[in-house]
Amino acid sequence: MSDAVADRTALRDGPRAVTVPLGTRAYDVLIGPGLLTETGRLIATRLGPAKCAIVTDENVARRHLAALETALKQEGVHVGSIVLKPGEATKSFSELAPLCEHLLELGIERGGLVVAFGGGVIGDLAGFAAAILRRGVRFVQIPTTLLAQVDSSVGGKTGIDTAQGKNLIGAFHQPSLVIADTDTLRTLPDREMRAGYAEVAKYGLLGDAAFFAWLEQNWRSVFAFEPAALAKAIETSVKAKAGIVGRDETEQGERALLNLGHTFGHAFEAWCGYSDRLLHGEAIAIGMCLAFRFSEALGKCAPGTSERVAVHFAAVGLPTRMSEIPGAQPDVPALMRLMGQDKKVRQGKLTFILARAVGEAYVAHDVAPERVSDFLAREIAGASGR
Ligand SMILES: NC(=O)c1ccc[n+]([C@@H]2O[C@H](COP(=O)([O-])OP(=O)(O)OC[C@H]3O[C@@H](n4cnc5c(N)ncnc54)[C@H](O)[C@@H]3O)[C@@H](O)[C@H]2O)c1
Repeated sequence: MSDAVADRTALRDGPRAVTVPLGTRAYDVLIGPGLLTETGRLIATRLGPAKCAIVTDENVARRHLAALETALKQEGVHVGSIVLKPGEATKSFSELAPLCEHLLELGIERGGLVVAFGGGVIGDLAGFAAAILRRGVRFVQIPTTLLAQVDSSVGGKTGIDTAQGKNLIGAFHQPSLVIADTDTLRTLPDREMRAGYAEVAKYGLLGDAAFFAWLEQNWRSVFAFEPAALAKAIETSVKAKAGIVGRDETEQGERALLNLGHTFGHAFEAWCGYSDRLLHGEAIAIGMCLAFRFSEALGKCAPGTSERVAVHFAAVGLPTRMSEIPGAQPDVPALMRLMGQDKKVRQGKLTFILARAVGEAYVAHDVAPERVSDFLAREIAGASGR
């Protein structure tokens, strides 16, 4: 883990803070319980007085919006809240245009702040709106899903989906502050919590074997919301992501490691129409198991490694095989077509994140499509043969 990532977590009663080291655009990720009610003060002291417009979705609004509005009103900075429909379909051009116009109507000017309050869908959409509004206004991420707290709220990738694929329109636009109130996770459906956990485990699998071993021992405490375990899981994940983003903000190299399991996973998500049939984290869980099995099949990784990964994911209730995708199963041509749509294709070769061991992922740019199709055919045949 990078020494460049400042660790100022020792503050006894305050939130844990991880700095994303991006020079003049560096920002803090604050992690801890009860932060929502502190938000007005945290924003005012760290970012100065600014008109704040909240963007959220109906599920988050129902449970937590009143607390956030109160906190902002106490500082006199709340100018309005925009509540959108929950779900991936909200990350679209058709929602982006009225959102931008609504933010302008609320008087968000160059000095204003967009407050993205929700999961990755709201963070990606509101962050992109902030990136293009008046050629860029500041925004604050207040992530309310585990996935958003450990992944999507950190690193500045914002954007929307189109008919051609996910996240194909977007911008790098870093937030000015991230406030991860761990108490908000208590209202998250179990399935969403598990899906977010897949991204937590990803950090162990890609670069931190000791963290993965810790998760194998302590995952029950994380799911039981034991404060120390939950905070450690989130903080370790955020530090890992902050370090990678600090070294490779625009994904010229190392940042691609964060896509472990994503080439397969995105294809499964696309096959399921980005619906509740398969959540992003579930698709990535299967994708990571496949990435390890594929690494073994290519002789890059010791036999048995993928089994260790699958055993852990199965223990927490995550899917580990394509046969667990509900409904019709994808076939090899369909998957190859969907992976071809993946924006990581270069000159007919596929980019995969492979692994030499737990905690040792690497970027392979030269994977021949036929090795992939053979592997997928064996996976599918193996599943139907059991
Ligand atoms: N920008 C990035 O770097 C990045 C990284 C990973 C994923 N993503 C994107 O993130 C999105 C997925 O994010 P997600 O998994 O957070 O999904 P999401 O935003 O759809 O949230 C999942 C569900 O949980 C609900 N919810 C959110 N917080 C809640 C709470 N505290 N209590 C109860 N319900 C709550 C939401 O309304 C929604 O129904 C995808 O669009 C993916 O592409 C972006």
